[in-house]
Amino acid sequence: MGILIQSGMVVTAERFEKADVLVEGSTIREVRAQIDPVGHTVVNASGLFVLPGGIDAHTHMDMPFGGTVSADDFLTGTRAAAIGGTTTIVDFAIQAKGTRMRDALDLWRAKADGKACIDYGLHMIVTDLGSDNGKQGLHDMDDMVREGVASFKLFMAYPNVLMVDDGTIFKALQQTAKNGALVCMHAENGSAIDVIVQQALAEGKTAPIYHALTRPTKAEAEAVHRSIALAEMAGVPVYIVHLSSEDALNQVREARDRGVPAFAETCPQYLLLSIEDQMPGKSFEEAKYVFTPPLREKKNQPKLWDGLATDNLQVVSTDHCPFCFADQKQLGKDDFSKIPNGGPGVENRMQLLYHFGVNAGKISLQRFVEITATAPARIFGMYPKKGTIAVGSDADLVLWDPEAEHVISAATHHMRCDFSMFEGWKVKGNARKVYSRGELVADGGRYVASTGRGEYLRREARGGAWR
Ligand code: URP
Ligand code: ZN
Ligand code: ZN
Repeated sequence: MGILIQSGMVVTAERFEKADVLVEGSTIREVRAQIDPVGHTVVNASGLFVLPGGIDAHTHMDMPFGGTVSADDFLTGTRAAAIGGTTTIVDFAIQAKGTRMRDALDLWRAKADGKACIDYGLHMIVTDLGSDNGKQGLHDMDDMVREGVASFKLFMAYPNVLMVDDGTIFKALQQTAKNGALVCMHAENGSAIDVIVQQALAEGKTAPIYHALTRPTKAEAEAVHRSIALAEMAGVPVYIVHLSSEDALNQVREARDRGVPAFAETCPQYLLLSIEDQMPGKSFEEAKYVFTPPLREKKNQPKLWDGLATDNLQVVSTDHCPFCFADQKQLGKDDFSKIPNGGPGVENRMQLLYHFGVNAGKISLQRFVEITATAPARIFGMYPKKGTIAVGSDADLVLWDPEAEHVISAATHHMRCDFSMFEGWKVKGNARKVYSRGELVADGGRYVASTGRGEYLRREARGGAWR
């Protein structure tokens, strides 16, 4: 007795065909036309797309930052994700300086286990390779790989908090040549930005817009270039997170044209929001759009869409990191550098990409599947368990209604955040039913499963699936 999803259009990165999908237990048993329904619970999917569950490879639930903690925990954040058609997240554990990576892994597992509503993996943010010329930290990285932490994030920004020096980055990259993990880079020149920030504050420029104006695209491009150069020297792939500008994208394209395995993601906010539209520099309301890298000038948007269409960008994730406006964003009322960086997004990624990408003719339906599910699964060591519709894969499935209309609003969204960055935006195309490992978890915009059912995902270290 299984669940037979009947007569839908099955869409993967490779195919688009009318087929039935038979789910037994937590996995996909069969995918073909006209499976015998006898003995199965039939779900009629005619008129719907059957998509692999979305994978958001960049979220921050329950994350301490700037004197506060991101507003969604693993329960509220993953529940919202499921409603929006995302069935897997990869979040970030943070190694506190002077501690072992295992401490951070244990801490983040404790935050997530019993709360997560969908499956989750963890990247490890490396802040400190420790004593003995980094030997301890490099050993810890191998230890993390054995625990299924197949990727690490290192920061070139946030001096004195998360930023590490080039030597640390290079050593970590070299270690991934041995253990097969992937290094993800927050690529912004933090030292130069800090100088510009201090100069702006000294001139009395304290409003949110100065967060954007003190982080030039050249500071991003320089750090992307440096990340890729260091990875080339170490002979390993590298993945640039939350890439936001044409300048930065040019660095990735130049490397890829030379055959260098440089990968990059962007986020809906960089594809759809801009300084001109969201940050005219008039009020503190603009703190809602303070995240890092910041919003860019509108002229960058078509370049990023083009990057997605041409595979110079492989993934769209959200960098979901919500802070409420009423209290948390107010921490920076008199000083933009104290506004907690981040915004909500995990619930709306699929809707936004589908509406402004597929409906608008900027990306194909199959490319939509690729950048929201298949590519992150491959790059981050989850494929083919996740990210596709194939026999033996986890039955993480979304029945997608291409005709469903929805108005995005903080009044109706499920993220624990008192504003939406896309308030009032109308989108066409939405998740109707969402299955995680064969269990119906969201139905018509409501979460219908138990909380805490999500499992920790041990990911395989495959060097961004490059080798
Ligand atoms: O503003 C952001 N992006 N907050 C989350 C931390 C990060 O750098 O990803
Ligand atoms: Zn970052
Ligand atoms: Zn982030």
